[in-house]
Amino acid sequence: MQRAIETHKLGKVFRSGFLLKKIPALSDVSLNVEPGTTFGFLGPNGAGKTTTIKLLLGLIRPTFGEARIFGKSVDEVSVRAKIGFLPERPYFYEYLTGLEFLHFCGELFGLNQTDRSRKIESLLNLVHLKGAEHTQLRQYSKGMLQRIGLAQALINDPVLVVLDEPMSGLDPIGRKQVRDIMLHLKEMGKTIFFSTHILSDAELICDQVAILIKGTLKSQGKLESLLDPKTYSIDVCLRGVAPEKFQTIESISNTVVCHNETYTVSVSDESCLSRLLAWVIQEKGQLISVTPRKESLEDMFLEEIQESTR
Ligand SMILES: Nc1ncnc2c1ncn2[C@@H]1O[C@H](COP(=O)(O)OP(=O)(O)OP(=O)(O)O)[C@@H](O)[C@H]1O
Ligand SMILES: [Mg+2]
Repeated sequence: MQRAIETHKLGKVFRSGFLLKKIPALSDVSLNVEPGTTFGFLGPNGAGKTTTIKLLLGLIRPTFGEARIFGKSVDEVSVRAKIGFLPERPYFYEYLTGLEFLHFCGELFGLNQTDRSRKIESLLNLVHLKGAEHTQLRQYSKGMLQRIGLAQALINDPVLVVLDEPMSGLDPIGRKQVRDIMLHLKEMGKTIFFSTHILSDAELICDQVAILIKGTLKSQGKLESLLDPKTYSIDVCLRGVAPEKFQTIESISNTVVCHNETYTVSVSDESCLSRLLAWVIQEKGQLISVTPRKESLEDMFLEEIQESTR
């Protein structure tokens, strides 16, 4: 089957200012996104995420390499018709109501009145804006605007949905709403490619991720294969042991943190854990929890950033 997105050594050098100074934004980016995947494109500010997305959509031209969508050039009109796009900073005609805005977008895709109305009705339900469709966009909150933006991106029933920072600037409820909509799209079998620097969101919904730092791809693949499966440390939470007693476990604990009289002791392996648990029983302490800690997306992300600044 054709890959939904495939880039080969994609590169972009911007020219800026009077002297047309070269700004290298992206180099040698080779991405592979299989159909049906929810793909998180991660990177810190200025990494080149938006530049990559603009190249994928044919909004700017690459300086090097190429991008293909479903095996075809991004310049082909038939390809663009299969893509739904939510930009990083969407521009809204704010005197239009939500309903007028969606009709306007539907008209741009050549949908007739009946198809438009049917599609818009289902989209308003999907993005939870039923009841707000007659309100002008200038009265929408940031979260509502983001959701009407998502509805706009889906009006042409795209196979591939490209979202540039769909959760940024939203509160936890707004982020969850957007996440749930994305999960719904995933269930519908759509391929979702989205950029973010909110790692917890990516961890919750992505099948695959790629990490972009300073224009270069650092890693790409399934989350579970990228993250180190081995346990980093084991955190033991306990109460009821006098603070001075903790000196006796200095040799087996990596760190001891105290908060509200609850201690979290971190140990590095199972033999230290056995000794620690024996000590808690001996001291008549109260064991609250034992939690193995594996590498998280955040650990990996920070490690990649640190490595690139070395
Ligand atoms: N039109 C442009 N002209 C010159 N430089 C640009 C242009 N667009 C982007 N850049 C530069 O390219 C680099 C990558 O920018 P880009 O917007 O792609 O990053 P990003 O990963 O989307 O960042 P953010 O998380 O802040 O949105 C930055 O150094 C930026 O200043
Ligand atoms: Mg960006």
